[in-house]
Amino acid sequence: MFVITGAGGRTGRAAAVHLLGAGYRVRAVGRSARRLADLAARGAEVSEADPADPAALADAFRGADGVYAVIQPNYLPDHPDFGAFQDQVAASLTTAVAESGVTRVVGLSSWGARHATGTGPVRGLHRFEQRLSAVPGVDTLWLRAGYFMENLLDHVDSARSHHRISAPFEPGLPLPFVTTRDVGARAGEELAAGTWHGTKILELQGERDVSMREAVGVIANAVRADDFTYEHTSLADFHAALRGQGVSVDVADMMAEVGESVNSRHTRMEQPRTARTSTPTSIERFVEEEFAPRYRAARSA
Ligand SMILES: NC(=O)c1ccc[n+]([C@@H]2O[C@H](COP(=O)([O-])OP(=O)(O)OC[C@H]3O[C@@H](n4cnc5c(N)ncnc54)[C@H](OP(=O)(O)O)[C@@H]3O)[C@@H](O)[C@H]2O)c1
Repeated sequence: MFVITGAGGRTGRAAAVHLLGAGYRVRAVGRSARRLADLAARGAEVSEADPADPAALADAFRGADGVYAVIQPNYLPDHPDFGAFQDQVAASLTTAVAESGVTRVVGLSSWGARHATGTGPVRGLHRFEQRLSAVPGVDTLWLRAGYFMENLLDHVDSARSHHRISAPFEPGLPLPFVTTRDVGARAGEELAAGTWHGTKILELQGERDVSMREAVGVIANAVRADDFTYEHTSLADFHAALRGQGVSVDVADMMAEVGESVNSRHTRMEQPRTARTSTPTSIERFVEEEFAPRYRAARSA
């Protein structure tokens, strides 16, 4: 039986669906059983636990052959100190692993997590890796995932209104765009296989590297709009725009740091691109299946 934390989130749901589809027993953990009802309908056992509650998590982890450990959500836009939130969840997951006696963990981390500083919210994932990897007797595989294609969905409305996507990344810089469903499916595969010992790192680099300019071209093609442009925003303008949307200073600082870190290659992939570090879903397929339907449904401003 495998325990999936963040089962109501994107990678967690995909991990649970993969394992259930492969015939494994799954315990899906989230804060509300109601939001896990679809997984229960597919045969998952559901366990309610707040990710900041180590005792509840330890109860959920007991008896598992392996755990998928994820700090979710992706970020909390209005949080005054998101790093403290990440540390609280990381401590809770770590305590629960140690106390439950689980010996196999797949943890979700990120490209850039090798560095302690200068990587925005990935700093918290670096600390998560350090903390959980220190638990003795546990085989932990860290999936250092690339840049989620789902981040593009934040741009649906502005793309619809202005035929423009703005971001702080250099237009031609190749980015390891990866889908959350592929990350989750791989987490499920690795948990079930359990082929590693000690602490290991596996980068998930997506189907191929794609620049923002190319991604915007793929979107333009899918929504049949010739006048689509990519606007490379300065970090200061990006930060100001986030603040204008009500994002806290702390989270806006972190997001701007991601832009700086990616553009300077402080955050970069370090393992060779191989079948094992690659994942199947192309940017074209993601845009066709996820972005374009939302774009068509969005109301023009
Ligand atoms: N964005 C990227 O490009 C990128 C790249 C690499 C790694 N990552 C990492 O991926 C992880 C996110 O994984 P994901 O995308 O699978 O998660 P996610 O989909 O963002 O998680 C959403 C879930 O978060 C939970 N949640 C929402 N608000 C919460 C709160 N205040 N307290 C506790 N839980 C809350 C909810 O679960 P319930 O309501 O069911 O409890 C919700 O279903 C992060 O650690 C992020 O750093 C992101």
